[in-house]
Amino acid sequence: MKALILSGGKGTRLRPLTYTGAKQLVPVANKPILWYGIEGIVAAGITDIGIIISPETGAEVKAKTGEGDRFGAKITYILQEQPAGLAHAVKVAQPFLGDSPFIMYLGDNLIQDGLEQFLDKFTQQDLDALILLRSVKNPSAFGVAEVAEDGRIVRLIEKPQQPPSDLALVGVYFFSPVIHHAIANIQPSTRGELEITDAIQYLIDQQRQVQATQLLGWWLDTGKKDDLLAANQIILDSYVNPQIVGEIDAQSQVSGRVAIGEGSQLINCTVRGPVIIGQNCHLENCFIGPYSSIADKVTLIDTDIDHSVILQGARVVNIHQRIVDSVIGRNASLTVHPRRPKALRFMVGDDCQIELA
Ligand code: TTP
Repeated sequence: MKALILSGGKGTRLRPLTYTGAKQLVPVANKPILWYGIEGIVAAGITDIGIIISPETGAEVKAKTGEGDRFGAKITYILQEQPAGLAHAVKVAQPFLGDSPFIMYLGDNLIQDGLEQFLDKFTQQDLDALILLRSVKNPSAFGVAEVAEDGRIVRLIEKPQQPPSDLALVGVYFFSPVIHHAIANIQPSTRGELEITDAIQYLIDQQRQVQATQLLGWWLDTGKKDDLLAANQIILDSYVNPQIVGEIDAQSQVSGRVAIGEGSQLINCTVRGPVIIGQNCHLENCFIGPYSSIADKVTLIDTDIDHSVILQGARVVNIHQRIVDSVIGRNASLTVHPRRPKALRFMVGDDCQIELA
């Protein structure tokens, strides 16, 4: 059994962060999203992992993630020249996958359930494909499955206007090597991509063994800002290991589950967990509210933050109105001058969103 993680793509929904970096490396609780997927796969006993990368962000993914030693795995990077679809990524990875069955995992997805139970079902029932489904509120935004009473899949439809069910396809799939034959027999969709849903539909039409299982735990597709913040909240709630290594002065108060990394300094701050603060940060006269993740080398002075993700090297100074539900990119700078500002002055990149709420 091998694994194929898709970490290419365009990432348009997470712009502007994805102009300068891979969306799969955006941190959730200060750890790249991609790494949660790798860890889940290794926990299920699969250590031969291929990662699809794009020409734009591949070098960064590779440099940050490495050859797999830190996960106890062997990672092979596979370049996909164009983001031509999920099934196209499998096609490009065929030399790596050979005739091995494999798990395909979208690198920006997070799921709560362990993968072992699904892997067991896939192998024990000798399936050609096992897909995971999750009931969602807005099925039209996803690939949706029509499922018969015995669990057999009747039909898969990509982003249907009239969804036949509320069961969306989660970004985790198990395939036998027959999928390569299916992919060789499908055509690009109207949006120009080789769709994995079309390949699975081909297997269904050929009476192959395709089954679905419903996920009961949470599933997050972190490709959008609100989902990223939701993922951050869930992960901070479940996994933060309270550990204070950095320095906190006598005027500061820290309560709840809080982790503060080495070399970080807090002066006259109030921190209410769950919160994670990385290494070499400088925080002075700040309130840091629950569900905030602050990456390494961040400077926060005279600032209030709640339910937000602040990326590496960002600097936020003198913003006493609470910053909520926000994602602040790497090395971004937000400053309000100490005298009451008479004007707002911006240098804002393409596709940024600023709301003075
Ligand atoms: P998507 O989020 O569906 O696509 P995208 O990355 O192009 O994002 P957006 O819709 O915001 O423009 O892709 C799911 C995952 O699969 C994601 O981790 C990127 C990856 N992917 C590839 O590796 N190759 C591809 O050809 C495509 C379409 C996606």
